[in-house]
Amino acid sequence: MGSRRETGVPISDIAFTPAVKAVQERKGSRKGYAKMEAKGGWNDIVTDDLAAFIKERDSFYIGTANAEGQPYIQHRGGKPGFLKVLDETTLAFADFKGNRQYITAGNLAENDKAYIFLMDYANRRRIKIWGRARVVEDDPDLMARLVDADYAAVPEQAIVFTLEAWDVNCPQHIPRRYTEAQIADRVGGLESRIAELEAERDGLRDRLSHQNRAHRDLARPSDPKESTGRERPECNGTHGGAG
Ligand SMILES: Cc1cc2nc3c(=O)[nH]c(=O)nc-3n(C[C@H](O)[C@H](O)[C@H](O)COP(=O)(O)O)c2cc1C
Repeated sequence: MGSRRETGVPISDIAFTPAVKAVQERKGSRKGYAKMEAKGGWNDIVTDDLAAFIKERDSFYIGTANAEGQPYIQHRGGKPGFLKVLDETTLAFADFKGNRQYITAGNLAENDKAYIFLMDYANRRRIKIWGRARVVEDDPDLMARLVDADYAAVPEQAIVFTLEAWDVNCPQHIPRRYTEAQIADRVGGLESRIAELEAERDGLRDRLSHQNRAHRDLARPSDPKESTGRERPECNGTHGGAG
């Protein structure tokens, strides 16, 4: 069986089922989406932009469903780029040891339809990917390509995802959130600016106290007996003003 694109079926039909299209029709958006489909519609391969987006992600959500269609979604996290692009239709990641419920693995054993949802909260971008996934155990060569040596987790198995369609959503209603690393990046810049300003402040403070000392020395009468003890140096001498 060829891909949707090869058989002329819109790629978005993976999500735009007759039931979905009926709602679009009723709510007035079907015409617009039909135009999108006619223009080529969604993508079914990993473009350079998508690969770059995936490489930056440190987490995503994976959706699966059991044989009865009961959906399930789970978070997967790791080092940025832990979801690897193996080729233009294949993504894969090392599945870490966890609570040993194995819901994702069990669901995939009876229903390989899967979904990956990637969020970039800082830039308010989201990407949805539909496809099929399988669990691969005992494949050291594959695991070697997937495991990030400097990430503290015990890889248990690989999950290999064959991409069938993907789409981007608009940024609406995505609250901006920053990762610890992104915050450290921004705060680092502010910290060095604060350090610069503090150094400048300390320099100015030194200069000021040096000048005040010099003024005081100038204003101090040579014969202490003539001094009232109440002089304000800045009111003396050439200033002669209100101080
Ligand atoms: C010790 C340990 C305990 C965990 N407990 C939970 C938990 O109670 N609930 C949960 O959703 N994830 C928990 N996790 C994370 C999941 O095990 C992990 O996300 C795993 O991939 C879940 O896979 P699954 O949802 O496909 O079964 C735990 C992880 C570890 C290491």
